[in-house]
Amino acid sequence: MAHEVTVVARHADGEEELQWLSEASLMEVLRDNGLPIMASCGGCASCATCHVHLAELSATLVGERSELEEDLLELEDSFDPEKSRLSCQIERPHVACAIVLTIPEPWS
Ligand code: FES
Repeated sequence: MAHEVTVVARHADGEEELQWLSEASLMEVLRDNGLPIMASCGGCASCATCHVHLAELSATLVGERSELEEDLLELEDSFDPEKSRLSCQIERPHVACAIVLTIPEPWS
């Protein structure tokens, strides 16, 4: 895994910069580094408590939302059609990059 992927995660208490080292999902990287993300379904795309807002450039690096993902996210008060993603559905990008995101309320 030669290329580096950095995650910059903004939340109510500040901002963390993490290295995304493994093939874990983005949700697992956030959760395992103690970020305030609930992820109560464990990554099955059924709870939406791993909701994040991706910065515009970051969104282009991780591909499109699936229909299932969009259906779940649309139910969230903090849904943003341009930025919202389920972090459990995001895999590590195949290029060196930085993923910038915000963890929206109420999980921040
Ligand atoms: S962890 Fe439940 S939808 Fe992502």
